[in-house]
Amino acid sequence: MSDFSQFLLQAGGAVSGRIRVPGDKSISHRSIMFGALAEGTTTVSGFLEGEDSLNTLRAFRAMGVDIEGPAGGRVVIHGVGMHGLTAPQGPLDLGNSGTSMRLMAGLLAAQPFSVTLTGDRSLSKRPMGRVTQPLALMGADIAAQEGGRPPLVIPGGAALKGIDYPLPMASAQVKSCVLLAGLYAQGETSVVEPAPTRDHTERMLRGFGYEVLTEGSRISLSGGGTLKATDIDVPADISSAAFFMVAASIAEEADLTLEHVGINPTRTGVIDILKLMGANIALENQREVGGEPVADIRVRSTHLKGIDIPENLVPLAIDEFPALFVAAACAEGRTVLTGAEELRVKESDRIQVMADGLQAIGATATPTADGMVIEGRGEQLQCFVGGEVEAHDDHRIAMSFAVASLRSAGSIRVCNCENVATSFPNFVELAQQVGLKLEAIA
Ligand code: S3P
Repeated sequence: MSDFSQFLLQAGGAVSGRIRVPGDKSISHRSIMFGALAEGTTTVSGFLEGEDSLNTLRAFRAMGVDIEGPAGGRVVIHGVGMHGLTAPQGPLDLGNSGTSMRLMAGLLAAQPFSVTLTGDRSLSKRPMGRVTQPLALMGADIAAQEGGRPPLVIPGGAALKGIDYPLPMASAQVKSCVLLAGLYAQGETSVVEPAPTRDHTERMLRGFGYEVLTEGSRISLSGGGTLKATDIDVPADISSAAFFMVAASIAEEADLTLEHVGINPTRTGVIDILKLMGANIALENQREVGGEPVADIRVRSTHLKGIDIPENLVPLAIDEFPALFVAAACAEGRTVLTGAEELRVKESDRIQVMADGLQAIGATATPTADGMVIEGRGEQLQCFVGGEVEAHDDHRIAMSFAVASLRSAGSIRVCNCENVATSFPNFVELAQQVGLKLEAIA
């Protein structure tokens, strides 16, 4: 975990230079899971050495997988094959990581051993019924606590059968959970998405040699196949880059290049939304790395304007709304977000927590059931007065309010920032390097 608990930000600061943010969290989790179940040795470079993906790594080690590293982003996974995992000594503690718990619930549903999945204070409040329900339809009888919350007790030994499942919400975690259980199920497993969500599971399974069919919104696979080891180059995480995309958009005279960022089209909603607000963002040096599109993203200051955020972009920018709310507060005019009720069940209730924090530093933000209305003050240089905000153990809330300091009249203190280490272990160093006046304190 981090050796700090608070961010103290002096008002103002600049944003310039070239940086590479850490590896993609979604891809890092999946590289461990699929590498572990593959036949042969998988070498990963650019692995996110954040607490979330490290918790996935530790969990697979606890199930008998020999994993070397991480060292400088390099991880070597000696795959045990689809049926090679062994029973862990005790419960698997997945910390803050919803992705680990939901994907692993699917993968572990059909193992011959029983396993318990636990998490921290934030994860223990998050809904797991969305995965235990489809898994029950497949034949796995997973016990959760009241309200479908963790810990999850997976009895093991279930004989799964394939299902055809219309996803009740646009969620890559639920989609992935069902598909991963489907690897072990008899017959075909299909999911139908209400809206496109990140497709790393589908892309990476194909990269490991597994046949996955995508026909419009339906994704299907058949159980009983095998995964073949492959090498993975993890691009920088667009969700981490997003804080700096907003920072460079709202700061004066900013010019920042973010190197080697994954621009998978199911992840680029943040670029589309910022561009609709008038941002100056250029994708340079576009290329493909291991089945994922990558670019260097150059962002320069602009005068943002408020918009009605198109609902079709919501799942494609789902993790970026804390940062986008800060951008909206620094835009001229009103920004309205709707159709984003999923934000209420993230690492914190990101609608309430962001509205509270924005109000605490002097912005005008009104939470709604499924989004937020923000009256931006972009015509002024200083859009916030400053003050103290509570990050509620949510990494993305903490980093978003750090960025807000660029347009604040007074200093900002952000409390409960420890979890920044879950997704962005060197955020403080990179923020200081580009020019934020950030001090991390114990
Ligand atoms: C993720 C999916 C998203 C996202 C999370 C990572 C994934 O969650 O918020 O940070 O790696 O599949 P939902 O599927 O709950 O929207």
